[in-house]
This record gives sequence, C-alpha cells and structure tokens, in this order.
Amino acid sequence: MLDKRIVVLVSGRGTNLQALIDAATGGKIPGRITLVISDNPDAYALRRAQKAGIPTVTLDYASFPGKKAYEEALLATLERENPDLICLAGYMRIVGRTIVSRYRYRILNIHPSLLPAFPGLEAQKQAVEYGVKVSGCTVHFVDEGMDTGPIILQATCPVFDDDTPETLAERILEYEHEIYPQAVRLFLEGKLRIEGRKVLVQKG
Ligand code: GRF
Repeated sequence: MLDKRIVVLVSGRGTNLQALIDAATGGKIPGRITLVISDNPDAYALRRAQKAGIPTVTLDYASFPGKKAYEEALLATLERENPDLICLAGYMRIVGRTIVSRYRYRILNIHPSLLPAFPGLEAQKQAVEYGVKVSGCTVHFVDEGMDTGPIILQATCPVFDDDTPETLAERILEYEHEIYPQAVRLFLEGKLRIEGRKVLVQKG
C-alpha cells in the first residue's frame, strides 16, 4: 500500500499540497508524493516540496512554444514517474485531452465551490457576487471539461453578508485541507467506484 505513487501539479502557494504532504507523512494517506510538478518557477509550492524532501520538476509554461509542446513535456514527465494518482492542487491550467484520457479517473482536482455551481476562475468571488448563503469545496475526478468531472467529496460552509471573496476563500480553504486528503485516501484504498456521473464511496 505504502508504495502508491502520487504526483502533485501546482502553480501557486501550495496550501493544499502542504495538506497532502502532512497527511502522507502523518500516515493518513497510504501512499507518498514522489514528485511535484509546477508550471510556474516562482510557485511557493515548490519550496514546500523541497522542504519536505520531495523532488520537483518545473515546466515553465512561458518557455514552451505553446500548449501542445508543454503538454507533451508534461506527459513525458508523468510517464517517467508512473504515478498511481495525479492531484491538481492549485494548478491553474486545463489538463489536455491526451493526458486526461491516458490517466482517466486517476486525476483529482479540488475546487473552491460546491460544483456544479461556480466552475472556473474566482469561484469564491462568483459565490459572493451571486449572493448564495452556503458554499464550500469539491474534490472531483478530472475529465475533459472545466471542473465537470464526477464528484468524490464536498464540504459546505456558510457565506455571511459581510464576506468578501478573500474572507470566504479563507473559510473554504480550511475545508479543502480536510477533504482533499480524505479523497486521496479513499482513492488509494480503492474505495471509489464510478458509475456514470456518480462516484460511490465504499463505507468502512
Ligand atoms: C484552492 O482554493 C483550490 O481549491 C483552487 O486553487 C486554490 C489553490 O490554493 N483550485 P493552494 O495553492 O493549494 O494554497
């Protein structure tokens, strides 16, 4: 069990990466993060990985002639790593079709809203502006769409009248750090069964 290999894709500060690192080192996930890949050389997430002794690869998006060349390099890096699971953690790009189909139902993402509400960028701002009273976060499998894949876990939290996108984001983030490691654990334990759009979670 413990040799299940997780690769995490990041672009930014990496608090969800940190939650996964902490869960793995604390024995709460039956696997280990073998590589962190960033499309952004300045991502603080890279520092977090290095501090934890996890190898990193930077594929600086700006240094590639276009999306196709970038995705080819990403796929080659993934293939070398041979991951059981790929986690997107604040990764700011749409994963291309070739990679999605190569790793179908083996790529997870965390999104800061209750999908299918507010997909895409600035989900917390969308929620505040829409005036919803409840929001939260979603861990889902990645498919070809934007935040459209089958939902694994969700957590809810209130939205208050005086919330700003920032205060709501901060509240949601606490739940993200709980449910992302939980979803990874369920996946690695083989407790997720996909039936069409539904992900059935085996109890116990
Ligand atoms: C999180 O809100 C996550 O849901 C979204 O991007 C943000 C990343 O934050 N996909 P961090 O880099 O994990 O701190």
